[in-house]
Amino acid sequence: MKKLLDLITEELKEAFAKAGYPNDKVTATVSNRPDLCEYQCNGAMPLAKEAHKAPLQIAEEVCSFLKDSKSFSLAEAVKPGFINLNITGNFLSDYVNQMAIADKFGYEEEENPVKVLVDYGGPNVAKPLHIGHLRAAIIGESIKRICRFTGHETLGDVHLGDWGLQMGQIIAELKVREPDLPYFDESFEGEYPKEAPFTISELEEIYPTASKKCKTESDTYDAAFAEAAHQATAELQHGKPGYRAIWQHIINISVADLKKNYDNLDVHFDLWKGESDVQKYIPDMVEKMKAEGFAYESEGALVVDVAEETDKKELPPCIIVKSDGATLYSTTDLATLVERMELFAPGYVIYVVDKRQGLHFEQVFRTARKTGIVPEEEKLFFLGFGTMNGVDGKPYKTRDGGVMRLETLIAEINEAVLEKMKENREFESSEAEETAKIIGLAALKYGDLSNQATKDYIFDMERFTSFEGNTGPYILYTIVRIKSILSKYGKTPSGKVEFTGEKTEKDLMMKLTMFSQMIDAAYEECAPHKICSYIYDLANAFNSFYHEVRILTQEDEAKKDSYLSLLLLTQRVLEQCIELLGFSAPERM
Ligand code: ARG
Repeated sequence: MKKLLDLITEELKEAFAKAGYPNDKVTATVSNRPDLCEYQCNGAMPLAKEAHKAPLQIAEEVCSFLKDSKSFSLAEAVKPGFINLNITGNFLSDYVNQMAIADKFGYEEEENPVKVLVDYGGPNVAKPLHIGHLRAAIIGESIKRICRFTGHETLGDVHLGDWGLQMGQIIAELKVREPDLPYFDESFEGEYPKEAPFTISELEEIYPTASKKCKTESDTYDAAFAEAAHQATAELQHGKPGYRAIWQHIINISVADLKKNYDNLDVHFDLWKGESDVQKYIPDMVEKMKAEGFAYESEGALVVDVAEETDKKELPPCIIVKSDGATLYSTTDLATLVERMELFAPGYVIYVVDKRQGLHFEQVFRTARKTGIVPEEEKLFFLGFGTMNGVDGKPYKTRDGGVMRLETLIAEINEAVLEKMKENREFESSEAEETAKIIGLAALKYGDLSNQATKDYIFDMERFTSFEGNTGPYILYTIVRIKSILSKYGKTPSGKVEFTGEKTEKDLMMKLTMFSQMIDAAYEECAPHKICSYIYDLANAFNSFYHEVRILTQEDEAKKDSYLSLLLLTQRVLEQCIELLGFSAPERM
């Protein structure tokens, strides 16, 4: 379906042409003075000079060709040359009725879809998920769903951090604790056990203990251990069978735990690939970079220059191989692009990662372009997100100042929601807990997504879980309210809206018509917050309508059916939008 604003623009363009003016720059917008009119057009202003006429006169001439329009109930030229427009209720309700029966509410899918790969999550195995990974998961999942909705084929990749020093540290610690395990027996030739020698909770204790022993500033620092961990990492990376077997255990156990956590967040990946998967691409990639003259030696390291003349800040070269022969985070990300191009050939790759990694991605992207790993026509985009802070403005912490685990945060939110729910009404305890989980997730995700991703934001438990204001629970409350009205009605409304002349009814319809436009903006700008502000407006428009107009107590059956049809569409649009944000509504709350 054409967008409503495009239909209005077309009619305006025609009137400009009839009045004898060029119309290529004519557009209609939603009025910024809703007290004066619904839509507006400023197209007469720039024509004045060329036409040697006052803009007001041009606007008046154009308006004279809009008098008999079936779309406009008002087309009026006002000083200094604007055109104020109102549309007729019928034109609007026709449009809304078409939306109701169209697929995706009439949203026109991308004509030339591409494969979009979204790299998000980025957890590091063996380390528990903490809230630093929360934003990546929440924003990435929503971006992926938005891309999918617009008609692109999408792939979400978790891109595990599964190749770092933490692996060697765990292996070294295990060797200290259980030296007799077959993994450490150089002469062992049998098959290694299928069962891991540790559980996830043991792993979560082993890793921090080992990691502390490697930190010079910690009180348990152990230089010999740190060296052993280094050694173990190198041996693992060179393929030592016993260490590979331990590594596989760590991956299996961590991934199972991660999946459980992501499931709780309703976050799902198509690909569970990691840094380890791409190591095999590195040697060829490096050779090629050298052979083609892109990579050269500098102070013992192998680097690629990425600075460009137009740079305002100096961009250091991208290091591919360190002087000791080790590869780096950037090497792995480049090899990941090699693999992605080979296996999936995506037209667009979106990275949803902490914005402090901006420089890293700038270097990686430039190197990938320069060396031909990623051809010019494939888009690469870094969506760097800001930090989630506590009410004190500092990165969110536990009460005793530690890094908060995701599970703890979720439990705290659900608890806060449960209390709010109980203030409202009585619940059976099992229903209450289920519902609190659904609302808690909405509070968490909406609280995050309603902010522009690139900005830092304050995680305010009290505000995010409130049933009023610009919050997830308020949106859910609105949906539940509509559901309850519809169920009291007892039958399915016809689905056809006929405008009855109510102002709030018209406002609600006008908000509904903005759906497709909003989706386009959310996709183009990678901006889930646009969906949030749209549904906040839509929920407010519905609530005003609900307070102003008698719906269920309406005597006129035709009117009642029309109102309920409007409600049904509102509910469907709201539910579609929250699906794109990554949460859902309960039956009751
Ligand atoms: N594991 C990384 C971290 O915790 C994030 C990975 C982001 N994705 C990427 N392709 N580098 O910082």
